[in-house]
Amino acid sequence: MKKDFYITTPIYYPSAKPHMGHAYSSIVADFFARFKRIQGYDVFFLTGTDEHGQKIQRAAEKRGMDPKSFCDEISKTFFDLSKTLNLSNNDFIRTTEKRHEKSVQYLWNILEKKNEIYLSKYSGWYSVSDEAFYSDDEIELVNDKKVSKTSGSIVEWVEEESFFFKLSKWQEPLLKFYKENPNFILPESRRNEVINFVKSGLKDLSVSRKSFSWGIKVPSNKEHVIYVWLDALTNYLSALNFPDTNNKLYKSFWPATIHLIGKDILRFHAIYWPAFLLAAEIKPPKRVYGHGWILSGEEKMSKSKGNILDPIEIINKYGLDPLRYYLIKEVSFGNDGNISQDKLENCINSDLANNYGNLCQRVISFLEKNLEMKVPNNFEFNIDDKKILDTFNKDFNKLVDSIDSQDINYYVNFIQEQLFASNKYFNDQEPWKKKENKKRLNTILYVSLELIRKISVMLYPIIPNSSLKVLKAFNISEESIDINSIKLHENLKINQKLNKISILFKKIEKND
Ligand code: MSP
Repeated sequence: MKKDFYITTPIYYPSAKPHMGHAYSSIVADFFARFKRIQGYDVFFLTGTDEHGQKIQRAAEKRGMDPKSFCDEISKTFFDLSKTLNLSNNDFIRTTEKRHEKSVQYLWNILEKKNEIYLSKYSGWYSVSDEAFYSDDEIELVNDKKVSKTSGSIVEWVEEESFFFKLSKWQEPLLKFYKENPNFILPESRRNEVINFVKSGLKDLSVSRKSFSWGIKVPSNKEHVIYVWLDALTNYLSALNFPDTNNKLYKSFWPATIHLIGKDILRFHAIYWPAFLLAAEIKPPKRVYGHGWILSGEEKMSKSKGNILDPIEIINKYGLDPLRYYLIKEVSFGNDGNISQDKLENCINSDLANNYGNLCQRVISFLEKNLEMKVPNNFEFNIDDKKILDTFNKDFNKLVDSIDSQDINYYVNFIQEQLFASNKYFNDQEPWKKKENKKRLNTILYVSLELIRKISVMLYPIIPNSSLKVLKAFNISEESIDINSIKLHENLKINQKLNKISILFKKIEKND
């Protein structure tokens, strides 16, 4: 029986065009989705845009547009980016869609019926940029302006009638839930932050706004719109056709395997979201992973800081796969990562052009010259051959586990080591000196081809286009890629004709 895997990205605010931080979350989620598919899982991968709330309403007003047309325009740039990044998402959800509105209102009604929501008055600080409420001790004065201590964004005073969710009531059940599900919040440092925050006391949460209209209406009181985070988080359910809990998507994929998010929005996903769900008697997701930030210099890359690296510009200049590889390799997953064009260029030259590209070209052109592109027959592995091939079996379980604990670094380091070892093997074995010993020459070539095949399978979730170029030349179709096949040493059919591989990565000329 196939196992199910449901992964989501945050749904992005279409308040301005996408930047590298957004691209990063999406690329990493795509990496996991593709890996689980080649591991034989049934995968549902969701991304989309979060279109309601004051932030979007104000951004639209600034452009002199009505919010819906504004969202249509900018959401499209996120949709287009999902194509440009070659994401393998199964759905792209927009919170302005009818299916989503229905699902949010349904969830609201459950909470209201269960007496989890009451009407009162909110007075306190609100950051429109974060769409978040902050208490007095969470703000500070910077340059005469009140800002959130965590995000640095400006807060404003809000006083209005509001519905409240009884979050305080869920403090103890949440702590119990974290204890019983120790891997619910990852990485561990983030889990501790959340637990400390919950332990310090939860106040009831304002879950509706009255002073603007751009949102989903509270079903029982049309003067209120539902708080944008309650609205947005529900996207993870609406894409599975919630409230129809009997349909195949919901039955297969809820609870979600993993919500992949940036650490900036951990509180919403690790506290509010499971609290809403526990209150509605819906199972919470299995995991929330808060990754670090992409930094530009020492600062988080963001629109308000004006330090954005445009993913489209980078892709136009260097290509998509180099960017995907670089982000996945360079940013130690879970931590912040500083990126630069200079380091990207070094990475293309060393890892992609020299190590991977060169290995493929050398081995294939040797095969062409000596065996007319045919997979060698008549070979026999010696101890050295077996040893290098066996690395993949020896560490196979660790590799798979590393993905399930989101230890991308382990996976990427393994690939780098194998690329290095494979190049060294080809050099040390000197097949060009073995023309008199046909069997040895055949063996070295067979082993080298197998190494390229295994590494290309492993690279598929990271750089799908380039890996497919190689695998297709080896007559392996995308549908048939199977991570388990890296444990096999004689997967290539003898005498089968392989195809040539066009240049995979061009080296970047550097002046230094
Ligand atoms: N709309 C909310 C999320 C709702 S999810 C139910 C939101 N949107 S956002 O457009 O601000 O995007 C937030 C996400 O984009 C972050 O959580 C993170 O995943 C990604 N990033 C945005 N800037 C980033 C960096 N500089 N670095 C890495 N990722 C960051 O919050």
